[in-house]
Amino acid sequence: MPRAIISPSVLASDFGKLSAECKRMMDGGAEWLHMDVMDGHFVPNITMGPPILACVHKGVPGIFMDCHMMVSDPEKWVDDVAAAGGALYCFHHEATNNPMALIKQIHEKGMKAGIAISPDTPSLEITHEVGNAVDMILVMTVYPGRGGQKFIERCVPKVAELRARFPHQNIEVDGGVGPSTVDACANAGSNIIVAGTAIFNAEDPEGVIQGMKMTVTN
Ligand code: DX5
Ligand code: ZN
Repeated sequence: MPRAIISPSVLASDFGKLSAECKRMMDGGAEWLHMDVMDGHFVPNITMGPPILACVHKGVPGIFMDCHMMVSDPEKWVDDVAAAGGALYCFHHEATNNPMALIKQIHEKGMKAGIAISPDTPSLEITHEVGNAVDMILVMTVYPGRGGQKFIERCVPKVAELRARFPHQNIEVDGGVGPSTVDACANAGSNIIVAGTAIFNAEDPEGVIQGMKMTVTN
């Protein structure tokens, strides 16, 4: 299995001091920061866009921005997110009819490409071609749109199904993941863990990051 990475979701952070919050997570051992971009159309909520990503990139040297694009026209934002310093551009399978062209566009801009599936999307919709062309597959374990929701157990078998078909691929889980649900994700084969409230609301975020990383590694 590829190596374990913890990617705290800044959606649960204090947006008023976003750069400082990202630094705090990196000091606590987070290798990636999960940036939830919402457009008010693919999902009802609006969060941040390329101008904010650019500020964070400038203010936090060495940051790896894992950009989760909950947007309706993912093709439209590739250039701007790349210019803002995005390292990984993860679009939703449900939002595009031509994933292969989009993956090519993302790679041409020098970013890693990810494809996300929402809870009601079967994992078999990720074809052999697409699953091998991306750098990461994201299995949502809540409905995209907001943080702090309850983990949806029935999404876990999709992780196992994808791990069986793509043994060397990065498989990320996102939504309601914390110390009590990370085991199920890791056992199913996920190696990249997104967690928002479980990390940011913890008294000891570093302890939570390290604990989850151990769970995924072992
Ligand atoms: C949901 C977002 C998630 C969310 C995770 O739409 O994609 O990244 O912020 O937050 P928690 O861990 O609190 O569920
Ligand atoms: Zn997310």
